[in-house]
Amino acid sequence: MIIAIDGPAGSGKSTIARLLSEKLGLPYIDTGAFYRCAALHSLRNPESSERNISLFVNEMRIRIGTPDDPAIIILNDEDVSEKIRTPQIAMEVSNIADMKNVRIEINKKLRASAEVTGGILEGRDIQTLVCPQADVKFFLTATPETRAKRRLGDYEGMKINKTPEEVLADIKRRDKRDYQRDYGPLKKADDAVEIDTSDMTLSQVVARMLEIIRGS
Ligand code: CDP
Ligand code: CDP
Repeated sequence: MIIAIDGPAGSGKSTIARLLSEKLGLPYIDTGAFYRCAALHSLRNPESSERNISLFVNEMRIRIGTPDDPAIIILNDEDVSEKIRTPQIAMEVSNIADMKNVRIEINKKLRASAEVTGGILEGRDIQTLVCPQADVKFFLTATPETRAKRRLGDYEGMKINKTPEEVLADIKRRDKRDYQRDYGPLKKADDAVEIDTSDMTLSQVVARMLEIIRGS
């Protein structure tokens, strides 16, 4: 079974995908982590060309979650869980996500994983481009202000200092690029269920999604 979840930054995709994965016993595939790992490589190697980054992506090994820590991200044996969540990566990742050849390489890896194990994939172009054959598709949204408030809370937990205005500006900047990208833009599929999570708790969203999955 493949469940596709797309939506803008801070709509709750990764937290909800992780919760659904526990409840349904399906692997969780955080596709944004692939883009963030490519962004980490690019920041560490500032001279990298699109071709170099595509080659890196082709060869990189990413592990998402272990039985002890479902949130851990291992890139080629290095724990990058926190390193890929910084504001610097949030800036760089938009450049990476605009590189068509990098997207093609990442999508190959995502499709290969989904074909073998099925799973819950969350990102931007899963329901339209990566797995248009998914069994259930969700498009999560929330107002930019709600999403910025959530992300600010995440940064506070990581002891990263950002003003609410800076976080809101970053969310809006990424929204624009995600929706307007030529290849693989953020887009709701015609047969996806849209859920506005602005005034919903995580457990309310999960309950609604489980209802839809079980009824499908
Ligand atoms: O958690 P957040 O929504 O902030 O970001 P993410 O899901 O970790 O994704 C990081 C970045 O990768 C996003 O800003 C997107 O531009 C890009 N991305 C993408 O283009 N396509 C995907 N399938 C997943 C992420
Ligand atoms: O993956 P994405 O960027 O779409 O969002 P996330 O990282 O899963 O969620 C951002 C933050 O918002 C997390 O701390 C979630 O726990 C929180 N959240 C929430 O409080 N209520 C929701 N309905 C959805 C997310």
